[in-house]
Amino acid sequence: AATVTYNWNITWVTANPDGQQDRPVIGINGQWPLPVLNFTKGDRVIAHVHNALGNESTSLHWHGFFQNGTNHMDGPPATTQCEISPGTTFTYDFTVDQTGTYWYHSHTRGQYPDGLRQILTIQDPEDPYTGHYDEERVLTLSDWYYDQMPSLLQGFINVLNPTGAEPVPNAALMNDTQNLTIPVEPGKTYLFRVANVGAFASQYFWIEGHSMKIVEVDGVWTKPAEADMIYVASAQRYSFLVTMKNDTSKNYPIVGSMDTDLFDKIPPTLNFNVTSWLVYDDSAQKPDPSQIDEFQPFDDFTLVPVDGIEQYEAADHTITLDVKMDNLGNGANYAFFNDISYVMPKVPTLYSVLTTGSAATNPVVYGTDTNPFVLQKDEIVDIILNNDDTGKHPFHLHGHNFQVLARPSDDSGHYDPNNHTSFPAVPMRRDTLIVYPSSNFIIRFKANNPGVWLFHCHIEWHMDSGLTATMVEAPLELQKTLSIPKDHLEACDASGTLRAGNAAGNTK
Ligand code: C2O
Repeated sequence: AATVTYNWNITWVTANPDGQQDRPVIGINGQWPLPVLNFTKGDRVIAHVHNALGNESTSLHWHGFFQNGTNHMDGPPATTQCEISPGTTFTYDFTVDQTGTYWYHSHTRGQYPDGLRQILTIQDPEDPYTGHYDEERVLTLSDWYYDQMPSLLQGFINVLNPTGAEPVPNAALMNDTQNLTIPVEPGKTYLFRVANVGAFASQYFWIEGHSMKIVEVDGVWTKPAEADMIYVASAQRYSFLVTMKNDTSKNYPIVGSMDTDLFDKIPPTLNFNVTSWLVYDDSAQKPDPSQIDEFQPFDDFTLVPVDGIEQYEAADHTITLDVKMDNLGNGANYAFFNDISYVMPKVPTLYSVLTTGSAATNPVVYGTDTNPFVLQKDEIVDIILNNDDTGKHPFHLHGHNFQVLARPSDDSGHYDPNNHTSFPAVPMRRDTLIVYPSSNFIIRFKANNPGVWLFHCHIEWHMDSGLTATMVEAPLELQKTLSIPKDHLEACDASGTLRAGNAAGNTK
């Protein structure tokens, strides 16, 4: 295994990814799009992150990484670290012990949609599909806003927006452009790795005239499953094999189409599609893409992990979270789990774990505003999520992937055990799962990774309006094993300066 070292300077740069409007975006070492990272299982990653933004603090989260033994490298400010203030440097240092398709992004409030997000891959020395493909390609899907997040947030959490209508994106992007072409060779098979790195919109995705054989979901190899179209919510990833035709007389559209059901209104000028091209031959024709309703989206619930890990035995601990959107006294709209809208604590929750001795097992220590749940080492945990909102939400758990036991269709109401006499023997596992409108899901995981892990909706708007809970997993174990490096502690001294976006924040 290798040690991969980065010296990253985080700065503002100017970009115009859809050719419509220049805007400031957050770049690394003067560049945007950001570097696509490629690791191999077992690598040690050392990223020295220097914040040269001047006007905003920052952080980096390695989405989907287990960070086993390195919870303090997970990234979320107020949870496992203090913000990285302008002018300071902070080092992430961890070993990668998993494989598949992931991404890295700022976990500072409202920040990653301003550009600080990119896909990354981790090669598997024991890839079960070795020999089944010739080359691999990465693809990001993203929505795109012309305005910067601090000003959008100001308007979003506002008495003038009492229903909590989320800002509608201005465009959709693939690999941070609307001009993507992917040259291919006839007869070859490609492994495509797709991540939705967007703030809000899920995207329907298809490749005209080619079927996709899904082989990975959120870092978990799956048995091959054929799909014409996939639905990729914010933060979700899929890999699939696509075999090229032998005929080079035609090129084929690759389409990402934002799910407009998520939008309160659809501006008449909005192009909610992004079309890229699978190019067999530069001079060949490029037919118009077909319509979205010609395809059925693939149901991820049917996927089966290659590792055959069976359903964990019945839960020791069941957590029920009811989702609601509502107004607080000030008239602005917030998001709630069980009537609590998350507010960032002043001291990162992990640091509270490490300094409270035996009291660390008492959730009260963490403040009710963090929605804390204390988990025992190695217990089996069920999260039942009841969505009392009429929107879809992609929920993400840090530090784990979870088994998906049931995820009923729209309007199923609250979870009812009588409707579920059995669950799949080998359930699908992933780290980000959609719940349908006015419906529910039940997921199960083993608390075998001591740490403080967030569970939240990955729609940036909903994170910012409080749709977050905190899992404090095996706190006494953490006290025995973890020590916080000096530069992390120094970040707390420097971080009087919170991100500008906090001004619009959840300050009930
Ligand atoms: Cu993609 Cu809390 O993270």
